[in-house]
Amino acid sequence: MRPVPVTKRLFIKTYGCQMNVYDSARMAELLTPLGYAAAEGPAEADLVILNTCHIREKAAEKVFSDLGRLRPLMEEKRRAGGRMMVAVAGCVAQAEGAEILARAPFVDIVVGPQTYQRLPELIERAAALAAEPKRGAGLLDTDFPVEPKFDRLPETRGTQGVTAFLAVQEGCDKFCSFCVVPYTRGAEYSRPVAAIAREAERLVAAGAREITLLGQNVNAYHGAGPDGTGWSLGRLLMHLAATPGLLRLRYTTSHPIDMHDELIQAHRELDSLMPFLHLPVQSGSDRLLDAMNRRHTVADYRAAIARLRAARPDIALSSDFIVGFPGESEADFQATLTLIRDVGFAQSFSFKYSPRPGTPAALAEDQIAEPVKEKRLAILQDLLNRQQRDFNRAWLGRTLPILLEKPGRHPGQLVGRTPYLQPVHVAAPAELIGQERPVLLEAEHAFSLSGRLVSEGNDCMHDRMRVSA
Ligand code: SAH
Ligand code: SF4
Ligand code: F3S
Repeated sequence: MRPVPVTKRLFIKTYGCQMNVYDSARMAELLTPLGYAAAEGPAEADLVILNTCHIREKAAEKVFSDLGRLRPLMEEKRRAGGRMMVAVAGCVAQAEGAEILARAPFVDIVVGPQTYQRLPELIERAAALAAEPKRGAGLLDTDFPVEPKFDRLPETRGTQGVTAFLAVQEGCDKFCSFCVVPYTRGAEYSRPVAAIAREAERLVAAGAREITLLGQNVNAYHGAGPDGTGWSLGRLLMHLAATPGLLRLRYTTSHPIDMHDELIQAHRELDSLMPFLHLPVQSGSDRLLDAMNRRHTVADYRAAIARLRAARPDIALSSDFIVGFPGESEADFQATLTLIRDVGFAQSFSFKYSPRPGTPAALAEDQIAEPVKEKRLAILQDLLNRQQRDFNRAWLGRTLPILLEKPGRHPGQLVGRTPYLQPVHVAAPAELIGQERPVLLEAEHAFSLSGRLVSEGNDCMHDRMRVSA
């Protein structure tokens, strides 16, 4: 491919989940043929894209404060005879497109997660609009019918680096009563196996050694296989594990009811499928899980973990928790703490319930008072942080294979990750970037570890060997 001359600068700010990180990378790739290259910051940019998240109120409000900060930059550019275009993409664009244009009429483009493949065309139209003497409102592209985005995007150039995301599934049909995702990302869609395999090969050819398969409901994956039948995520993983040069596979985010047998089998059979799974449970109370429309019980969750552990005894888990969901009693909250103590999580994310417009739970009358949410969140996070520290500490003095990803903050230092996603700092030459090496873990920091390279074979644990937790 011939390099395109750089004529413009692009700055993308990404909020929210890994799917947005993936989408931002795809948007940047989509705009490269138009002459856009990365800007250091918004001030140098000709085009700023805010790739937004709608999951909680705070995330959504951040967009408006960031837009407020962009406005003076836009005006400054205009005074200097230049122009900065601003696009709002992502889940807030999808959910609140019209409101964005009403509150921030200087925004040029609003484009949802299912339609960003149209960005080149939208940019052209927005530029023409801006050239008119009486400039109208920005372009809203969230009302267009959903088209097969993945078919229209150019194939990836694999610009993501040693660790890469690959979207295999998008959207959600589960409708948990607190969640906006089914509304912002639409109905569940699985990409065909062949397209995924080709993207994986391109990522690896460009230097990726670890690929995380993404989907809002990734383990509900049921894309068309080369044989025409629907393939499960487990089958897809087994297929991708044969990609030459690919060392590590992960997938996120999963739902407890979709831990099917083939997926468990993949955990049993594939050394390259990392022994770490993010499996959100949200609550440890059956009454609340029912009110959340989660479609699983606490016993189902425990059973899924038991099956995973039987298949892969060294597996570690992380989860998401919501505290202060409408109607959450002290007993419900205690049940969540009990589940956490019983399972033991290596890492977790926890949030205060945030009522979201258009979701059923936002209309519930028994909303929990803010101070109660805060108190419960503090207690929950204290327990989860302790579990995370204990998990990290347990590795000190032991050796794990570390995939070296990029230079660290200090000269001569690289940063990599353990199979459990723990970041590790290690003194190592830059030539080792992209390689997996055994590292003796020596010290623990706030949320990371540090260690030193040990020669292969010197220690009981080498590259492809399983580790015992
Ligand atoms: N698809 C994933 C995660 C979606 S959003 C899943 O099914 O688990 C990521 C996390 O945000 C959720 O797991 C949940 O813990 C949290 N979340 C979603 N909506 C929320 C809300 N209204 N208030 C607080 N947290 C929320
Ligand atoms: Fe949201 Fe539930 Fe779908 Fe996850 S499964 S994206 S929490 S609706
Ligand atoms: Fe946020 Fe949309 Fe992801 S709401 S969490 S960016 S799917």
